[in-house]
Amino acid sequence: MSEGNSTDRTVFVLNGPNLNLLGMREPEIYGADTLDEIAGRLEDQGHALSLAVDIRQSNHEGHLVDWLQEAAADRALAVILNAGALTHTSIALHDAIKAIDVPVIEVHLSNPAAREEFRHKSLIAPVAKGTICGFGALGYALALDAASKF
Ligand code: DQA
Repeated sequence: MSEGNSTDRTVFVLNGPNLNLLGMREPEIYGADTLDEIAGRLEDQGHALSLAVDIRQSNHEGHLVDWLQEAAADRALAVILNAGALTHTSIALHDAIKAIDVPVIEVHLSNPAAREEFRHKSLIAPVAKGTICGFGALGYALALDAASKF
């Protein structure tokens, strides 16, 4: 049995614009789970994997840049990033990921490649360790499992 302790490595789980609305925002696309429900499950999973999980959400690009830099300063094991719509527009997030030596796993609840054309381009994907999309909230759990193997 593993117990959380002060030597646990931390995985940051960063969520961008509008993901605070999960559960009520287009549930046919993004599912019925709230971000709090997803966070609770990730914390349990992290505990079982001896990982600390630090889950945050912001509607502001700069907060996400700051948190990526914080993950590097804290020598986090990995960052799981759902940048929301900033995925498709943010050179600042692209550059921030490139600037740090922490592996970033890109996650999307939906499969952007199967949606509107403006969602087909990701500025995160070229600098991410890998991408998990299209599996709803399960994508976060798959990403945390992957991070536990880093
Ligand atoms: C999303 C996909 C993005 O295109 C969209 O803007 C989001 C959510 C997803 O998790 O499927 O806000 O990142």
